[in-house]
Amino acid sequence: MAHVAVAHPNIALAKYWGKRDRGRNVPAVPSLSVTLGGMTTTTRAEVADVDSLVVNQRPQSGRPVERASAMLDRLWREAGRDGPRPHAAIVSTNDFPTAAGLASSASAFAALAVAGDALLGTALGRERLSCLARQISASAGRSLFGGFVELPAGDAGAEHLPARPVAGVDHWDLRLVVAVTTEGEKDVGSTEGMNRTTETSPLYEAWVHSAPSIFARVKEAVLARDFDALTAPVEQSALVMHATALGADPGLVYWNGTTVEVIRAVRKLRAAGLPACFTIDAGPHVKVLVPAAYERAVTEEIGRVPGVLRTIAARPGEGARLITVAEE
Ligand code: PMV
Repeated sequence: MAHVAVAHPNIALAKYWGKRDRGRNVPAVPSLSVTLGGMTTTTRAEVADVDSLVVNQRPQSGRPVERASAMLDRLWREAGRDGPRPHAAIVSTNDFPTAAGLASSASAFAALAVAGDALLGTALGRERLSCLARQISASAGRSLFGGFVELPAGDAGAEHLPARPVAGVDHWDLRLVVAVTTEGEKDVGSTEGMNRTTETSPLYEAWVHSAPSIFARVKEAVLARDFDALTAPVEQSALVMHATALGADPGLVYWNGTTVEVIRAVRKLRAAGLPACFTIDAGPHVKVLVPAAYERAVTEEIGRVPGVLRTIAARPGEGARLITVAEE
């Protein structure tokens, strides 16, 4: 019997960067994201003799398989099951490019949590699945839910720390336009980047201190559907996060020249009366947030910025879910 789950990536409007507890992956700052429809990870799991993982038609070995096994182990332990856990053959496919800077780990572990839960019969429920996915990749904890989702900060050692929905998928008709600025993969992954920032950036304390109030402003603006009020804290969250990472030793420069040009273009559009704001993750692409009615105009302008290779548009989407339980 195969179990198939789907999940979508998410983009943080208030960023998570830095852990209080590395083992349990407890965030040092609260974050708020929007789950993105239209881009999907589909994960199929069935019982097998050993754990195996295929991602985008490529059989994996080493670390990726270990992380998938760790996810299944967590489900099994959380459900208090005795005896050896059944092994699983996992096949996962993304219908969006991994190099687009849309964290595929978030949708991957959210989909695996749901597919694994069905396969193992652990019936843990969305909150506990969010906790377990968060322990592997914090942003994955958010993709269990649809629409606008928050993940609180926690104390070191915190066990129960799920993400939670703050507003549903139909709450606000926003669009996210990704300006793709390179086809290459990023140099330093988010886990290594955050650890280096925490250990070496003299700005880290200031980030942890200021992030909660930036997060609160983002949340308030989202709940009020107030785009004007959203703009400043969304951009500040990304810029302070990157300033903190730039201050690490050696400094983490995730941007390229085009990243800066897109930032300037967004601010120019705003000065001309078009509502748009940007956010940037651990890579050089710029994600431009815009009310749906302005998607076309903003996409055209952003697509014209020299160095922008292409744009990808997304809208709020649903949380991770099971799609089939097929008898074979
Ligand atoms: O959850 P991770 O380890 O993929 O880290 C995500 C970090 C950012 O994308 C930069 C910010 C965020 O909150 O998603």
